[in-house]
Amino acid sequence: MAEGRNVLPTGEYYNPNVSQYQQIYRRSIDDPEGFWSEHLNILDWFQKPTRILDDSNPPFYRWFVDGKLNASYNALDRHIKGGLRNKAAYIWVAEDGGEKIITYDGLYRRVNNLAKALLNLGLKKGDRIVIYLPMILEAPVAILAAARIGLIFSFVFAGFGAGALAERIRASGARTVITADGGYRNGKVIELKKIVDEALAETSGVDNVIVVRRTGHEVEMEDGRDIWWHEIVGDGVNYVPPEPLDSNDPLYILYTSGTTGKPKGALHGNGGYSVWVANTLKWAFNPSPDDRWWCAADIGWVTGHSYIVFAPLFLGLTSIIYEGSIVYPSPDRMWEIIERYRVNILYTSPTAIRTLMRYGEKYPKMHDLSTLKVLGTVGEPINPSAWKWYYDNIGGGRCPIIDTYWQTETGGFMISPSAQLGLPPLKPGSATFPMPGVDPVVLDEDGREVPPEIKGYLVYRKPWPGMFLTLYNDDDRYVETYFSKYKGMYYCGDYCVKDSDGYFWLLGRADEVLNVAGHRLGTIEIEDALINSPEVAEAAVFGRPDPVKGEVIVAFVVIKEAYEADTEIINKLRSRVRKTLGPIYVPEEIHVVKGLPKTRSGKIMRRVVKAVALDQLPGDVSTLENEATVDEVKKAIELFKKEASENEG
Ligand code: WTA
Repeated sequence: MAEGRNVLPTGEYYNPNVSQYQQIYRRSIDDPEGFWSEHLNILDWFQKPTRILDDSNPPFYRWFVDGKLNASYNALDRHIKGGLRNKAAYIWVAEDGGEKIITYDGLYRRVNNLAKALLNLGLKKGDRIVIYLPMILEAPVAILAAARIGLIFSFVFAGFGAGALAERIRASGARTVITADGGYRNGKVIELKKIVDEALAETSGVDNVIVVRRTGHEVEMEDGRDIWWHEIVGDGVNYVPPEPLDSNDPLYILYTSGTTGKPKGALHGNGGYSVWVANTLKWAFNPSPDDRWWCAADIGWVTGHSYIVFAPLFLGLTSIIYEGSIVYPSPDRMWEIIERYRVNILYTSPTAIRTLMRYGEKYPKMHDLSTLKVLGTVGEPINPSAWKWYYDNIGGGRCPIIDTYWQTETGGFMISPSAQLGLPPLKPGSATFPMPGVDPVVLDEDGREVPPEIKGYLVYRKPWPGMFLTLYNDDDRYVETYFSKYKGMYYCGDYCVKDSDGYFWLLGRADEVLNVAGHRLGTIEIEDALINSPEVAEAAVFGRPDPVKGEVIVAFVVIKEAYEADTEIINKLRSRVRKTLGPIYVPEEIHVVKGLPKTRSGKIMRRVVKAVALDQLPGDVSTLENEATVDEVKKAIELFKKEASENEG
């Protein structure tokens, strides 16, 4: 790779012995039974598994089959008994700067109290519950209470709109929703309860909505359905015994975007997932017991599930949870929090880094960042210049950058440098090498391994403990999406290059999935939302590369003849997408055209629209039916550029 220059961090907080990593890695592949029978001891089991992997029904791999455990017990009870009762589990920082510090004992009490209230509502093991909360302490409390009594929770990111929420409630079959009156973002209130009401207006089957009071503004409460959290949870002392769950009993469903309009419900289990997140956090970041860990993701995405809630609590760490926007009230917000709480490890996204980088070095320079030891990134490829900026200006040249590559489906890190096992020299932009137990290979279309430096598809040859169990209620789609392109191997949908030193470079999605600011969004979901507007006849959506967000959403629409194609309609479409799917889905550009390029069979050629709009070669257009539409797309883009430059001038 052109950018393959090595960087050797100069800090003392990692193990530079890469050959040790190599040995451990080798063993994990050659002797998985032996390896995992040791590493499963990172957790306490009610019944220790005697069988490591059941691979008799591929691709439905089952780990630690006869083991019994409970995630909430591992996050709380064992620390309470083990000497960490008074340690801070979370330091919560409000957007207005206020703080709450909650100890392991305090968290344990709240989790037990909520678990009791949920049992009182009649919920029982295996029932689904949807959690739609902002970044407040009730979010981990709700997750752990659900895990304690064996409910399957499905957390819906609070940035999703009513339509997306309704779909997830329906798909999971949840009868209980936990939400808040609202949340704070950039100093404004996001009306979460109102969005839940809108979602429930189009969904039946929900018996109860439990509402946390966060903002205190007035919300409507429906009699018999809506209940205030503080009224049913109370602040007493209850003990709810943790349910001894089978290793492969489900822990949660997390909906993620795929290549159709319907999100996929990745279903994770208790045993394999928990063993995976705890070990991978330790291997990659090497946190010591006294460290302060800040994973600056949202709890609603898998990064927050695994590395704000489960893994750090399993390891008994102290985490920062920040409620709001990283540029509010000022672009030094993150650096201020690091200084104030003397944070040791920061784990964030390339988009966050590029956003803050734009504001310049002045902001980090306002603060003492010398407590930082290790830095991490996740969610999208990091470009070498952002990597270097992070390394120099935030890490002061001392801190290795742990670029963790993984997915909702994988549960935890798959390819990442390992500060604990032995760190390789880093190459800015490469996630380096696989975690133990992960067996990646780069293949061509026909399933042959590609030579070094050649782009191909990333595939895993072996199952790993953190892998999801299936797609909820859709085993066929699980097999079809992930295990049919290459028989018996997990296809993750990402392009990858392995360089001549064996480093892995992740190059973005190979399918119709976008990565906007580290958020995984499906083009078809957005097209569906547009087409469901009465004014729209056809829509094509794709991503345009963006220097800060990685990609931004561009839409081309054909407006029905009965309507005027004016700016009012475009604004209407924007607000409709915002309402149904959520603000992160709103296209940056919406272009109106008279027709879209199609095949003879009438399929819209999104690839051609994209290529023409981005001024790239459109590739094979022999199946194109209506060539005039290509000029339409060109014209729309030229007009847009002209208007943009006029506005600037
Ligand atoms: C992308 C987020 C490059 C990738 C944890 C993947 C990355 C998708 C990286 C999963 C990284 C995640 N380098 N690309 N370090 N991390 N991705 O399910 O395209 O929200 O398939 O999980 O994000 O997104 P998801």
